[in-house]
Amino acid sequence: HRAALEMELLPLWLCLGFHFLTVEWRSGSGMATAASQGGCKSVGGVTDCRKRRLASVPSDLSPYSQTLILDANPLKTLWNHSLQHYPHLESLSLHSCHLESINRGAFQEQAHLHSLDLADNTLSENYKETAAAFHTLQGLRRLDLSGNSLTEDMVALMLQNLSSLESVFLGRNTIMRLDDSFFEGLGHLQELDLQRNYIFEIEGGAFDGLTELRHLNLAYNNLPCIVDFSLTKLRLLNVSYNVLEWFLASGGESAFELETLDLSHNQLLFFPLLPQYSKLHTLLLQDNNMGFYKDLYNTSSPKEMVAQFLLVDGNVTNITTVNLWEEFASSDLSDLRFLDLSQNQFQYLPDGFLKKMPSLFHLNLNQNCLMSLHIREHEPPGALTELDLSQNQLSELQWTPGLTSCLRSLQVFNLSSNQLLGVPTGLLADASNITTLDMSHNQISLCPLPVHLDREGPPSCVDFRNMVSLRSLSLEGCGLGALQDCPFQGTLLTHLDLSSNWGILNASITPLQDIAPTLQVLSLRNVGLSSSFTELDFSGFGNLRDLDLSGNSLTSFPRFGGSLSLQTLDLRRNCLTALPQRAASEQLLRSLRTIYLSQNPYDCCGVEGWGALQRLQTLRIPDLAMITCNLSSKVIRVVDLPREVPQDCKWERVDMGLLYLVLILPSCLTLLVACTVIFLTFKKPLLQVIKSRCHWSSIY
Ligand SMILES: *[C@@H]1O[C@H](CO)[C@@H](O)[C@H](O)[C@H]1NC(C)=O
Ligand SMILES: *[C@@H]1O[C@H](CO)[C@@H](O)[C@H](O)[C@H]1NC(C)=O
Ligand SMILES: *[C@@H]1O[C@H](CO)[C@@H](O)[C@H](O)[C@H]1NC(C)=O
Ligand SMILES: *[C@@H]1O[C@H](CO)[C@@H](O)[C@H](O)[C@H]1NC(C)=O
Ligand SMILES: *[C@@H]1O[C@H](CO)[C@@H](O)[C@H](O)[C@H]1NC(C)=O
Ligand SMILES: *[C@@H]1O[C@H](CO)[C@@H](O)[C@H](O)[C@H]1NC(C)=O
Ligand SMILES: *[C@@H]1O[C@H](CO)[C@@H](O)[C@H](O)[C@H]1NC(C)=O
Ligand SMILES: *[C@@H]1O[C@H](CO)[C@@H](O)[C@H](O)[C@H]1NC(C)=O
Ligand SMILES: *[C@@H]1O[C@H](CO)[C@@H](O)[C@H](O)[C@H]1NC(C)=O
Ligand SMILES: *[C@@H]1O[C@H](CO)[C@@H](O)[C@H](O)[C@H]1NC(C)=O
Repeated sequence: HRAALEMELLPLWLCLGFHFLTVEWRSGSGMATAASQGGCKSVGGVTDCRKRRLASVPSDLSPYSQTLILDANPLKTLWNHSLQHYPHLESLSLHSCHLESINRGAFQEQAHLHSLDLADNTLSENYKETAAAFHTLQGLRRLDLSGNSLTEDMVALMLQNLSSLESVFLGRNTIMRLDDSFFEGLGHLQELDLQRNYIFEIEGGAFDGLTELRHLNLAYNNLPCIVDFSLTKLRLLNVSYNVLEWFLASGGESAFELETLDLSHNQLLFFPLLPQYSKLHTLLLQDNNMGFYKDLYNTSSPKEMVAQFLLVDGNVTNITTVNLWEEFASSDLSDLRFLDLSQNQFQYLPDGFLKKMPSLFHLNLNQNCLMSLHIREHEPPGALTELDLSQNQLSELQWTPGLTSCLRSLQVFNLSSNQLLGVPTGLLADASNITTLDMSHNQISLCPLPVHLDREGPPSCVDFRNMVSLRSLSLEGCGLGALQDCPFQGTLLTHLDLSSNWGILNASITPLQDIAPTLQVLSLRNVGLSSSFTELDFSGFGNLRDLDLSGNSLTSFPRFGGSLSLQTLDLRRNCLTALPQRAASEQLLRSLRTIYLSQNPYDCCGVEGWGALQRLQTLRIPDLAMITCNLSSKVIRVVDLPREVPQDCKWERVDMGLLYLVLILPSCLTLLVACTVIFLTFKKPLLQVIKSRCHWSSIY
């Protein structure tokens, strides 16, 4: 009997065992076994308990969790027992948990933990206890302590002997100085983030033990200078948003691994003195006070420029003399590809400056004080594809005719907001790969006839004809006169901006016929177009997507015939009094997605199409609330227009005679009544007189 019972039980056990195995296999392989435990989501080995208002770590979660996310729960304290059910944790996130303390035994069971995120808590409260808890984490590789109000002493204690750490995040704390004991024993550290602290001093040797360090971020601190920079293994150094006045790499012949150096938003006076051997490819120096000081030194060549730096270290004062040009000349910029020098004080670039950067492909000199630029062999280097010279005081580009292919790779050339009158003949012809040219806000003129390339003398006009590679051209605010025939002949322009050149089209768009088939974006803002003589006709512009006609004097809608692909149309600030005729609008509306119509003196009685326009699902009118119209002498917002208004308008327009009649009739009636009354008043005595006479006479 017993044996029989056992026989019956066996399949049951087998079943249960099998079932257990399947569950294990499924969760282990990361299949979608989403389950909800204590309001947490568990998928694969990841348990997500974000924002659950938990006051303690739930004890009923999957014991096999490898990743536990408890962000944004008011835990306050991580107790000794909090994590005891989860011995398989590899990654734990306790971001914004109001943590003040971590018990020293909290991580005792966590032999596998390698990533710990404790950002945005208040661990400065009980930092000794927390530091003690960290000491049990001998396999930890990634630690985030950002935003915990930690001072340098607290951090030093917490990081002590955590020799397995590879990434440490300490941003948004209150660290002020770093000394040589700070990172002791962190020999495997590769990434260190110290941004947004108050660091004003880094003692020599502070980073010496960090032989594996690759990325160092010191942005948003108070560092006044970096001297004797010697982290040869570093690949990325970010010291942006400090108060650096100079940067000086250690001399010597050691090879640096440095690839990216961000010194932007500081107060550098000189071009940084970079390592002699490095792999630097990105150098960010925007928003500093840098310049070259030939005039200040009264020397003919920059080679004699010398700067003396005063170094005060404790009670020792050292004066370092640096020959700026020699230092610059000896720095290794052969791999440099991206150089941002915008928002500085450069008045000129010394001869040979750009020659040192043969691989340069992006150079930004926006917002400096350059007055002229000499384009020579290898300057700028032949690899350059983007050159931004906008917002300087350039009055000329010097170029030696006969010199070919110095801008052969250039694709984007920005000369906006300078004082150029022209561009050397042939320079643009030489830039045979150029696609984007911005010459806006220069007082240039267009050459009336094609110019010969070998013409001598300073350029007085610009010729864009036959620039086959050119796709985008901006000539906004160039003071251009009326366009002559075919100024863009031989180009395949897709983007053209002719805005703010008053009178450039002289009421006709025929000068653009050459490029009409290719144009996709056309801006004709503030050019004084009027449609008083003929309607503007954009029928030939088959590929036009975006048309800006704002700020003109159009009184009627332009015509769009043919196969239309127009998507955006801007008609603000014109003299339109009515919406387009139904036919025109229907055709237009087929492709149109966005239309701007405000600031026109519409007549409220001529806006019958509004309802239909607003009802269109596919069309957006972003400035709808600002469109007004004119009823008698009142200005009414079109959206507020009552339904009956068109009725009023009809009445007003069609039956003007009736209106006058209605206005005049009461006056007439009053007059008539007055006359009658007067007549009757005088009538009685008269009758009486007559009567009495008669009477008298009858008596007589
Ligand atoms: C936590 O555990 C440690 C030993 O690992 C012990 O010294 C400490 O008193 C415990 N703390 C609490 C609050 O139980
Ligand atoms: C850190 O390690 C050193 C030796 O490597 C040892 O002497 C010291 O006691 C350790 N400190 C702590 C707090 O564990
Ligand atoms: C340097 O850090 C600042 C602040 O975090 C950041 O905006 C910038 O992109 C960083 N620069 C580089 C090159 O990563
Ligand atoms: C600059 O140097 C020249 C001689 O090299 C001298 O004649 C001139 O006075 C100097 N100017 C200034 C402002 O020092
Ligand atoms: C400089 O300071 C050190 C201690 O920091 C002291 O030993 C030395 O005598 C000082 N030297 C002078 C010249 O004051
Ligand atoms: C000052 O200069 C001396 C000799 O040139 C050098 O040994 C010393 O390290 C320098 N001190 C500092 C703080 O740079
Ligand atoms: C011109 O630009 C194209 C990419 O737009 C590039 O592939 C080609 O190499 C460039 N030609 C030269 C001479 O740089
Ligand atoms: C050229 O520079 C100006 C000013 O810096 C900027 O507004 C414009 O967008 C730039 N043009 C192009 C084509 O990038
Ligand atoms: C503008 O066009 C009118 C006729 O269409 C012509 O008489 C006038 O000369 C033109 N103005 C200019 C500056 O070309
Ligand atoms: C109403 O429109 C007319 C033109 O139709 C214009 O002259 C007048 O100034 C407008 N009135 C107001 C109040 O804007």
